[in-house]
Amino acid sequence: MRIGVLRETGAKERRVALTPTGVVKLTADGHTIIVEVGAGLRSGIDDAAYRSAGASVAQRSQVLADSQVVVQITGPSPGDLPQPEWASLGDNHVLVGLHDPLWRPEDAAKLAATGATIVSLELVPRITRAQSMDVLSSMATVAGYQAVLLAASRSAKMFPMLMTAAGTVPATKVLVLGAGVAGLQAIATARRLGAIVSGYDIRPAAVEQIRSLGAKAVEFDLESNDSEDAGGYAKKQSDDAGRRQQEQLTPFVAEADVVITTAAIPGAESPELLTTEMVEAMVPGSVIVDLAAERGGNCRLTDADSEVIHEGVILLGPTDLAAKAADSASLMFSNNVVALLKHFSSDEGDFMIDLGDEIMAGTVVATDGDVCHPRVRERLGLRPLETDSSAESTDTGTTP
Ligand code: NAI
Repeated sequence: MRIGVLRETGAKERRVALTPTGVVKLTADGHTIIVEVGAGLRSGIDDAAYRSAGASVAQRSQVLADSQVVVQITGPSPGDLPQPEWASLGDNHVLVGLHDPLWRPEDAAKLAATGATIVSLELVPRITRAQSMDVLSSMATVAGYQAVLLAASRSAKMFPMLMTAAGTVPATKVLVLGAGVAGLQAIATARRLGAIVSGYDIRPAAVEQIRSLGAKAVEFDLESNDSEDAGGYAKKQSDDAGRRQQEQLTPFVAEADVVITTAAIPGAESPELLTTEMVEAMVPGSVIVDLAAERGGNCRLTDADSEVIHEGVILLGPTDLAAKAADSASLMFSNNVVALLKHFSSDEGDFMIDLGDEIMAGTVVATDGDVCHPRVRERLGLRPLETDSSAESTDTGTTP
């Protein structure tokens, strides 16, 4: 494969999709890597490091013209395509990155219209075999850690209990709502800083995971047996169940100095866990970090990427937390990309798609100008393709 690595263009993006270590691993398998000038600079990696790892370095238009598989953290977005650098994009390309196809299916359809094969990393199935490719887990790990550091730096209280000659300073009480990958990392990080930590998730399975990290699990009966889908993800709750949940959470929120919310439903708007009244019940100076800000937020008052102060409570809705630890995040993303490309590699080293394979069927959004992913087609209101039987083992042998 000829693999191109692009520089990210997002204003706050500091990560790079493939690091020099990734270059070494892929070149050892016989692939050729071409990296855009300055691609790693904001992660602390210069062009010389890529060259020493065995890659060549070129301008963006050259990278796109010379490569078959193009890896990026995010994108491209349809707005990028009219730029002259993208002129060569066509059915000889495979775009690998985060494209958010379930949330923005129209954009995925526009990318598909270029003829390029689209492989979206958000869609890597949550199965054991695919864990090494699971970019969402990697980035959620970084975001959960960063959320706690952000809360600690904005809080006027120190996290650990301190017994000093000047008296006892009580530990900060941290409540984490949503105990998936980001939430569990936030719990672990807040515990390491010495806070008193509680966690809550709508999935009953999370209780044991919260406890295993030494935190208290908040539990109550929502009178809804339908919190989890077959894939282990939370399901959207009815308005009634949502209201009951807010009522039950209110005293726990009022007691917390810091609330970190991470609740998400894949491809859907984030559930509202914190109402304005719940925020008003908190003590002034308390901090809320809402990791779900990009999808509307878990708190009614969240404003993505801005700081809101409501009756003295500080609300933060950062959407770039993974990029803040760009070095670690790039390392993890790059390892995930290497694992994924190895999976898509035929014995001869060519890029190949076998839609009978669960991982490939799960992540390929478009080929040959058409959106082929069943869930993305559904979101676009398109009829299922005849080959939509992703459970069936059909080797399409697609080699763009
Ligand atoms: P996510 O980012 O989609 O959601 C975060 C958390 O929010 C989830 O734990 C979810 O249950 C929770 N949530 C949603 N609605 C809620 C509500 N109304 N109230 C409270 N909590 C709510 O989830 P994430 O972190 O990507 O993981 C989801 C699942 O996938 C988990 O079961 C996790 O263990 C599993 N997983 C499995 C992997 C595997 O390879 N086997 C890898 C990574 C995750």
